[in-house]
Amino acid sequence: MPMLDRPGWAPKQIDLSRPSAARVYDYLLGGGCNTAVDRELAKRLVDAMPQVRDTVWLNRKFLRRVVAFLVGQGITQFLDIGSGIPSVGNVHQLAQGLDPECRVVYVDNDPIAVAYAEPLLRDNKLATAVLADFRSPAQVLHAPEVRALIDFDRPVAVLTLMMMHFVPDAADPARLMGRYRDALAPGSYVALSHPSFTGAEGELLADAQAIGAIVEDTMEPLYPRTAHELLRIIAGFDPVPPGLVHLPLWRPDSAADVGRHPESSLVYGVVATKP
Ligand SMILES: C[S@@+](CC[C@H](N)C(=O)[O-])C[C@H]1O[C@@H](n2cnc3c(N)ncnc32)[C@H](O)[C@@H]1O
Repeated sequence: MPMLDRPGWAPKQIDLSRPSAARVYDYLLGGGCNTAVDRELAKRLVDAMPQVRDTVWLNRKFLRRVVAFLVGQGITQFLDIGSGIPSVGNVHQLAQGLDPECRVVYVDNDPIAVAYAEPLLRDNKLATAVLADFRSPAQVLHAPEVRALIDFDRPVAVLTLMMMHFVPDAADPARLMGRYRDALAPGSYVALSHPSFTGAEGELLADAQAIGAIVEDTMEPLYPRTAHELLRIIAGFDPVPPGLVHLPLWRPDSAADVGRHPESSLVYGVVATKP
């Protein structure tokens, strides 16, 4: 077993002997909330597919554009499920930077992500973090912290960025998303970013499959999905233009955002509204 550092942010009951998605992701973003096992796994992923680092940043940029779009549509309430460890450029910073009245609830099933968020949000009356699981809609939707900040009679944006691929097909993500949809007022939104191997071939496909195997071996299986499967998950919401596209193609700020091969990001993004 590798030597483990137990930093101040890690509560004693947390198992640090295994990597966690939130901390691996934090490391890839250049954050400091990770341990040796997380860094080791992140390095294995980057060795298998160097573009993994670019992908996490593409997703961050997508998040920024999505929040700006939603605030522009008058959204002031955000439920960010699978929010991860809040590093620089998180939803509350982005949204409240555009409209200080924005309310943000972060939800994650990793206790570290929530423990790390709490001190960061202590002085922010309009943002909080909750330990809950997307697969338990009632737990999320009825959490006292959620009810204290979010008014479900008004439009809400539910964000599920780079989270749904941890939810197995057996848990029926479309049915689960339907539970959230039913709780939302008309004019609400859902945003999704999700890995997909559609269109990948040759070396790119082999690299992506290698990533899947490494993650399954060390943490849990990943579920890349086709465009068709993703549209099924958000059934009942109407995608806003440009629809479900590879991340760099979703309302890019500039040609530089798009790059030369946007489809090789292997991650789809979509924002859709409840009619
Ligand atoms: C790759 S990170 C993405 C973080 C952030 N959404 C972003 O896009 O920058 C995935 C996060 O989803 C969380 N997660 C995975 N499955 C979850 C579930 N069933 N319920 C809540 N959170 C989950 C993980 O703990 C992790 O923090």
